[in-house]
Amino acid sequence: MYKDYTLAIIKPNAVRTGKTGPILAMINEAGFEIAAMRMVKLTIPQASLFYEVHKGKDFFNGLIKFMTSGPVVVMILLHTNAVEEFRRLLGSTDPEKAAEGTIRKAFAVSTRMNAVHGSDSNENAEKEANFFFSGIERFY
Ligand code: CMP
Repeated sequence: MYKDYTLAIIKPNAVRTGKTGPILAMINEAGFEIAAMRMVKLTIPQASLFYEVHKGKDFFNGLIKFMTSGPVVVMILLHTNAVEEFRRLLGSTDPEKAAEGTIRKAFAVSTRMNAVHGSDSNENAEKEANFFFSGIERFY
């Protein structure tokens, strides 16, 4: 049965410091179903393509350097209103502004190293899911 989905990425700093397990626990406890998951180390061209929309912004080069600095864990997550609900669970991009109980409040160390990415629209969720998971069988 079709459900709404979003694309999530546990970022290199969180993977490197052993936060993958605790972050997955928060995702499960919040009622998201993991429909696909893989660990990859992005190349600079791959990360630049994924974050194409931010090209030209002052944080772009730093973002690409960071996102290619180590492995990331990529997932497709199912939930009703998945994009919106997952962004609520993530909290604000700036961890100083993230609400208590959110993933970024618990695990982000800065606006750049904000622990986890979540798609910002259904359209981008589809694009991002295809970016990482095209060509394999899907469970949703
Ligand atoms: P993410 O949700 O992956 O989407 C774009 C990323 O760019 C964001 O999380 C941050 O990692 C990074 N980012 C956004 N704004 C800034 C900023 N002002 N300074 C540094 N990094 C940023």
